Amino acid sequence: MPLAYVNGTITPIERATVNVEDRCLQFADGLYEVIRAYGGRLFRLGPHLDRMRQGMAALDLPEPRTPAGLEALLEELRERSGEPDGQLYVQLTRGTAPRSHVPPPDMEPTLIVTYRAAAPVPEERYREGARAITHADVRWQWCHLKTTALVANVALRTLAHRAGAYECLLHRDGLVTEATSSNVFAVIDGVLRTSPRSERILSGVTRAAVLEVAERLGLPRREEAFSLEEVSRAEELFVTGTMTEVMPVVVLDGRPVGDGRPGPITRRLQEAYRDLVRSETAG
Ligand code: PDD
Repeated sequence: MPLAYVNGTITPIERATVNVEDRCLQFADGLYEVIRAYGGRLFRLGPHLDRMRQGMAALDLPEPRTPAGLEALLEELRERSGEPDGQLYVQLTRGTAPRSHVPPPDMEPTLIVTYRAAAPVPEERYREGARAITHADVRWQWCHLKTTALVANVALRTLAHRAGAYECLLHRDGLVTEATSSNVFAVIDGVLRTSPRSERILSGVTRAAVLEVAERLGLPRREEAFSLEEVSRAEELFVTGTMTEVMPVVVLDGRPVGDGRPGPITRRLQEAYRDLVRSETAG
């Protein structure tokens, strides 16, 4: 059953409520994480929570009060829902107060967690690949923080959807940064490339896992941004994310990428990523 936790209370998701003066509603003053469960195990929970804690330090958000700790709470919600393959959403906001840009001192943060069955992307999409479009990265400059301020991401992802595409690749100063809810990899002149960690991208947990398996496979790789010109002649292209996993992009802005089919490096990484997930969530 889909469950929600809001500041100490667990209910079915449709009965959960928040205060209208929560700062996340008024200012998007909060952070979030999306974590995937496979076979009853949360995949790479540690790196997701590390990233959230780095965001809390950067935005001066206090640790939420959870008697047994945040990890234990997340595991409890997953367990109680009874759904082994799920999507866990964690949102931490600065809390509730009369609207004012400068928050009052000593705010109590709001912790919201939801857990429901994952809605996986159809297998055929992974096999055949997806379409993507490109757009200027119109987001703010602190894209390394996973804040709930996603209105630009939502607008651009919707643009992609209306164009019949799965994702929208973003570019700043002529360089591809990432996509609206995934990181971007390309194979250019035989080398696997992705933007380096910086304030321009969210440092994805899936991105890190894919770089790990690429290293294990001995693939030539560089964390170096690529230009729009380079991506237009890439041999292979794919996006990565917690729910996206490793998704080949075979058409970009209406033109085929490589031969218009998922390439051999993408396929090896798709497989190796699934093996990694299986090995870490088995038993
Ligand atoms: N999004 N870049 C952006 C802008 C993202 O929003 C995400 C994830 C990623 C990939 O990060 P990870 O591999 O840690 O999921 C990159 C989540 C899934 C979302 O907003 O639903």
